[in-house]
Amino acid sequence: MRIKILGISGSPIENSNTDRALQIALAATGYQTEFIKLSDYTVGPCNACLGCTETNRCVLKDDGIMLTEKAYKANALIIAGWTPYASIDSRTKAFMERLYALRHRHGLMHGKPGAAIVTSTIPEGLEGMAPAGDLGIGAIENHMRAEGMHFVGGVQVADNVPCIHCGDDRQCAHSSLKSIYGRDATIAQVGIKRPEESPATMAALEKLGKDIGAAVYG
Ligand SMILES: Cc1cc2nc3c(=O)[nH]c(=O)nc-3n(C[C@H](O)[C@H](O)[C@H](O)COP(=O)(O)O)c2cc1C
Repeated sequence: MRIKILGISGSPIENSNTDRALQIALAATGYQTEFIKLSDYTVGPCNACLGCTETNRCVLKDDGIMLTEKAYKANALIIAGWTPYASIDSRTKAFMERLYALRHRHGLMHGKPGAAIVTSTIPEGLEGMAPAGDLGIGAIENHMRAEGMHFVGGVQVADNVPCIHCGDDRQCAHSSLKSIYGRDATIAQVGIKRPEESPATMAALEKLGKDIGAAVYG
């Protein structure tokens, strides 16, 4: 049997931190992988109609059906999301909701290894700020555990400040640059951070990939 690990990215930005972090973990699994970018597809949220209970197939006619099938056929799943307003992004959330169709009677995701990657701005443990990374990882972990999957672990990739891209580091009173790094912080000081530049993040992503690969036969 050919082992296949499915990676799902909720980030709509081309070649984003979320995408690349996921691709690093996928490459470390040692198996054939498939990378899916949810913004290339149409996946609506669950309508809670319970139309899937008899058939294990969602009644919504969009790409959620095909992607659910891919998740079912994959030997393991890595879900990578980002954290607008400190919760998991809506594309990733909609995808996870649609996997509900696989649950009824057969628990079709039961026992499948799964892992989470979450990118955010707020670094772990920053006082007074919502712990976006923890909350994002928690959302994916809770989903995987609820579906009876074997949750292998999660990696947070923080310090990616979106406000850095507008170029206004002096006037803007609403910049997250200032609330994280202090009043005098400038774009030039903080810079654009990429997961590839952090040896600790790279090691964590590669370990996650290896752990998922090992869990396929575990
Ligand atoms: C609308 C919006 C809201 C955001 N809110 C938060 C937030 O509340 N907490 C946080 O840590 N990051 C927040 N971010 C930052 C993103 O989570 C972060 O930049 C992430 O790395 C983006 O993923 P990407 O690099 O793959 O595009 C926000 C970004 C956007 C665009």
